[in-house]
Amino acid sequence: MSKIFKLLILPGDGIGPEVMTEVTKLISAVEKSSGAKFEITYDDIGGAAYDRYGTPLADSTLEVAKQSHAVLLGAVGGEKWDDLEFSLKPEQGLLRIRKELELFANLRPAMCFESMVDASSLKPELVAGLDIMIVRELTGGIYFGKPRGIETLADGTRQGVNTQTYNTKEIHRVARIAFELARKRDNRVVSCEKSNVMESGILWREEVTAIHTNEYNDVELTHMYADNCAMQLVRNPKQFDVIVTDNLFGDILSDEASMLTGSLGMLPSASLGEVDENNFRKALYEPVHGSAPDIAGQGIANPIACILSFAMCLKYSFEMNDEADKINDAVNNVLTSGYKTKDLIGNNEQNLSTQQMGDKIIEAFNSIGS
Ligand code: IPM
Ligand code: MN
Repeated sequence: MSKIFKLLILPGDGIGPEVMTEVTKLISAVEKSSGAKFEITYDDIGGAAYDRYGTPLADSTLEVAKQSHAVLLGAVGGEKWDDLEFSLKPEQGLLRIRKELELFANLRPAMCFESMVDASSLKPELVAGLDIMIVRELTGGIYFGKPRGIETLADGTRQGVNTQTYNTKEIHRVARIAFELARKRDNRVVSCEKSNVMESGILWREEVTAIHTNEYNDVELTHMYADNCAMQLVRNPKQFDVIVTDNLFGDILSDEASMLTGSLGMLPSASLGEVDENNFRKALYEPVHGSAPDIAGQGIANPIACILSFAMCLKYSFEMNDEADKINDAVNNVLTSGYKTKDLIGNNEQNLSTQQMGDKIIEAFNSIGS
């Protein structure tokens, strides 16, 4: 009897639908090769959801997300919705689904495929073999802290307010995810904050240390200020194995890390919740890149980040490690053969369209024996 997995697919805005189309083609290939069955529901998020429901994330969509085994998301945002009131903007849909599903751990691997070494803005020897896992806290910190808002002071000056808060529970659970991942990798964690400036950073450092001492002292733990980490990432990126950090620093450091791999179009992510009493973990998978309005609709977007996000879904939600590895190998094979999309600037290479790249990867996937 084959397993049936319920997937909610939210293509979103901009290049989201284009890259997601390639993923849905790949899903059929995975069904054929593995015997697993995916029961797919499609819905909208972000600007597309605003246009359809008048809100960037409808309650009904959220309900379906809660009932699904995993959510696949494309991207949100675009200038069409720039003038909307803040609470209705596309990004609010993404932030709400992360928060409501309590997806507190955002895994952003930055790996440099052999064939991509020359596409990186750093020297080849600095990025060859690079394999970093950034664990970004995703449901706390300054993204959600209160008070927040824009206020007008007595003298008429306007003031914007956001608040960074972290409590022990939030720090402990994301630290545990980082240590667990490290144990399956090179067993090293670097924890980043600004404890030289922020009290929330002091607490972060103390609590990560406590979890380490009590539960994971077999793992190597180093603390680093986030600004130093930003610098070290371009100075000597291979010194890192797992990086664990807060919501805002993680947002910034993961964009930076993406360029080590050659293109933002290569980076997948997994956002995970706590394991519940039925041994089930809510999860959402999305490319790190955004909706890229400047190239949307042209058929030139790189579908690899979205495809690799689906590979992460197979690995982290469905324990289909072999199929996930096959997807990664297929991507590597296609890149090694010299096929690139426009963002992966290289020499003597033919640029493929989004659809052609999707087809090449599926072809390569099908030709790898299971
Ligand atoms: C990301 C994005 C989002 C974030 C935006 C679109 C809300 O930049 O996933 O990194 O800041 O978290
Ligand atoms: Mn970001």
